[in-house]
Amino acid sequence: MSGRDRRDSEQLFHDRQAAGRVHAFRAGQVDLRFADAAYLGHETWIGPAFAKLGDLRGKAALDYGCGHGMAAVVLARAGARVTAFDLSPGYVAEAQERLRANGVAGTCVVADGEKLPFPDLAFDVVWGNAILHHVDLARAGRELVRVMRPGGLAVFCEPWGGNPALSFARRYLPYPGKDRTPDELPLTRRELRPLRAIFPRVEVEGHQLLGMARRVLARPRLCRALDATDARLLRACPSLWNWCRYVVIVVHKG
Ligand SMILES: C[S@@+](CC[C@H](N)C(=O)[O-])C[C@H]1O[C@@H](n2cnc3c(N)ncnc32)[C@H](O)[C@@H]1O
Repeated sequence: MSGRDRRDSEQLFHDRQAAGRVHAFRAGQVDLRFADAAYLGHETWIGPAFAKLGDLRGKAALDYGCGHGMAAVVLARAGARVTAFDLSPGYVAEAQERLRANGVAGTCVVADGEKLPFPDLAFDVVWGNAILHHVDLARAGRELVRVMRPGGLAVFCEPWGGNPALSFARRYLPYPGKDRTPDELPLTRRELRPLRAIFPRVEVEGHQLLGMARRVLARPRLCRALDATDARLLRACPSLWNWCRYVVIVVHKG
């Protein structure tokens, strides 16, 4: 599939998804307002990853592949000047509406991560959740480094494909929330090579080793115990990160 076909299919998929949500918003069935904790706690890696952005007051922040725009709201509430972009016009409209509903400012634009409409050196920090595995990382990496300021950092949370048992489950087992675009694939070390070639420092941290069992367990106490065990295991044996469900990738421009 060519880059263009891939972008068209990604846009169609996500626009359909956004259109499926818009009726509920318009009918007032869903309140677009939310507290930061609702976003920062919706997956175990989000809060720790977001903290890596540091003090956001006065910073120019980019919400990369913003989808519903919750991160854009949290970035703005933390004092950043926010720009959010997504390939899907439907999701950009939702993000815009969410910023407005939460009483914060931000600019939302339809754009392709592989060809960004922003000037060089425009952003101090970049945040992206579940987005890099939708793009070509050689092209997107070149654009990312172009728009980041020296000393800037980008934090991405991405599904990881280093665990063969998990790859098997993702491919063959049914589970809730399995809806995927035809092209997205969890990242592996191979996909990260272009980023490592472009940026002087790329750090990768694993999340949910045993804790990934929460996808089939509905037992919060057990999940918390698994998370605590993960923290100990990953401290004792850092190379286990490669078996985790998700990774947090921190990219430094230097
Ligand atoms: C799994 S969603 C994640 C959205 C959001 N970051 C979140 O946390 O929910 C992936 C998003 O990537 C967007 N996307 C896919 N390919 C893209 C591209 N080439 N450029 C920009 N956004 C893209 C989709 O439209 C979709 O909103």
